[in-house]
Amino acid sequence: AEDVAGDLESVLLTREEIDDIVQDLAVQIDRDYEGKDILLVGVLKGALMIMADLSRALRSKVTIDFMAVSSYGSGTKSSGVVRILKDLEEDLMGRHVLIVEDIVDSGLTLSWLKTNLESRGPASVEIVTLFRKPEALAVDIDVRYIGKDIPNKFVVGYGLDFDQKYRNLDVLATLAPHVYE
Ligand code: PRP
Ligand code: MN
Ligand code: MG
Repeated sequence: AEDVAGDLESVLLTREEIDDIVQDLAVQIDRDYEGKDILLVGVLKGALMIMADLSRALRSKVTIDFMAVSSYGSGTKSSGVVRILKDLEEDLMGRHVLIVEDIVDSGLTLSWLKTNLESRGPASVEIVTLFRKPEALAVDIDVRYIGKDIPNKFVVGYGLDFDQKYRNLDVLATLAPHVYE
């Protein structure tokens, strides 16, 4: 198989650094949700790694469900047009919902999703994201838990893709320009 290492420019966060961020998020979430069951809603596919690691780091009792929405297509820019490709199986009525995302970039996907889930009668809807890019600051969206702000570069790994590849890297890395130019 082709080795992906040659497609990377530099490693922004190592596996160990990501683990530390995830553990810190779990501590905050456990403290805030003490005594409550949490419905974790992972947004496919980017959230696959953070869902697996965060859910195992939590001590709270959790239910795991997933949604798939489309916003990017195969390009690299959000369009703001969100379509549900796979809906939740869980009923949200009276539940404490925590949306689990890998990254907030423009914030368009999440702001749409949060409004959508809030309309289903939950007790609460909050968001945890592992990474956030600076543009997200311009969007009026309340992200309760943010692992780390990262530079406005095209990044891959730990669930984040370029053209559906590189999700399986266990680091967060920038992509070499020759890959996307
Ligand atoms: C990416 C990422 C977030 C979203 C962030 O998902 O995983 O879900 O974009 O972008 P935004 O803040 O500008 O809306 P993508 O649509 O690429 O799907 P994927 O998770 O399957 O990669
Ligand atoms: Mn995504
Ligand atoms: Mg993507």
